[in-house]
Amino acid sequence: MIPLFDLTRQYSQLRNEILETVDEVLSGGQVILGPWVEKFERELSEYLGVNHSIGVANGSDALVIALRSFGIEKGEKVVTTPYTFFATASCIVRNGGVPVFVDVDPDTYNIDLNQVEKIIKSERIRVIIPVHLFGQTVDFDNLCFLKEKYGVKILEDAAQSIGSEGKIGDRVQKSGTFGDIGVFSFFPTKNLGAYGDAGAIVTNDDELAEQSRSLRQHGSKKKYFHETVGYNSRLDALHAAILSVKLRYLDQWIKRRIEIAKLYQSLFEEYNLPLKYPKIQDKGYRYHVFHQYVVEFRDNSERELARKHLNESKIGTSIYYPLPLHLQKCFEEYGYEEGSLPISERLSKTTLALPIFPELTDDEIEQVVNKIREVF
Ligand SMILES: Cc1ncc(COP(=O)(O)O)c(C=O)c1O
Repeated sequence: MIPLFDLTRQYSQLRNEILETVDEVLSGGQVILGPWVEKFERELSEYLGVNHSIGVANGSDALVIALRSFGIEKGEKVVTTPYTFFATASCIVRNGGVPVFVDVDPDTYNIDLNQVEKIIKSERIRVIIPVHLFGQTVDFDNLCFLKEKYGVKILEDAAQSIGSEGKIGDRVQKSGTFGDIGVFSFFPTKNLGAYGDAGAIVTNDDELAEQSRSLRQHGSKKKYFHETVGYNSRLDALHAAILSVKLRYLDQWIKRRIEIAKLYQSLFEEYNLPLKYPKIQDKGYRYHVFHQYVVEFRDNSERELARKHLNESKIGTSIYYPLPLHLQKCFEEYGYEEGSLPISERLSKTTLALPIFPELTDDEIEQVVNKIREVF
């Protein structure tokens, strides 16, 4: 059996370190926020090169809180992509706003910035939420061009992309730190994952940081005194302490993920398979951290055949995402119809995620590719 993702292999390598840390946290008695959370926040800020990190309960809350710190008005339109996890758009609705979905680029699967510009030109848009999908950084030169030219605010959904880098001019920076505010998810399957739900908000802006810090704790800066109605969305000390341990391994894990992606690519090339897969370029910086390795088939029936064959061969796969957000029932009122965002709709029918995690062996990758060859 080759799983899509396997947390147990990583745990068996880190077991002693993690259990010692858990013991230290529990012996200290402070289990919500406190010194372990502050330590992780400091380390995360240092790793990312950003002034403030605020640990929260999960990535979805991070999005809600980060967006709220911009003061979204009732009915305000916020631009985002339909080809992403639900939370990217639900945070807009949860803030009283209206999602405006813009189709994705057919090669990167990230939001198409040319189409974003057309919308910003014709409508009042203050905030854009780009997603660094599957771990690939959005084109920051172009995004920052829009930011400068139209004065829009950027909330980066970096839930899937911790450690990936982008470039503005000559400056290389980590994803999550380009925009006004960025969010991360430490859902267990993420490249940096907790053993449960966890997330973070990051920013260089002191005021946005202070607001987010207050919002995660019932809108209070001083205990039992509330300036706004916030949330209970605090990071637990156990998660924070374990994330500190894991953060030390993150770059090494990312390196292995990139190696795995290269091996998939070289095997697909060797067998000349009629698949679309991420063509790795040497840009001189780490623009993709391969949170997911997603390939595209020529049509839906081919994808379904492959999925069935791999699953019968006990190889884990997943579809990210089977129904684009603009066609979700809960967003019906916004009036999108089938055919309105054709690239996202096509990708939802033709893409398949293959196993990728740092402990996956070369031999297992070859087995996955051989099973895909049998499909063709
Ligand atoms: C792109 C994206 N945004 C937001 C989230 C929400 O994160 P969480 O599951 O930690 O709430 C996820 C994670 O699943 C995600 O992949």
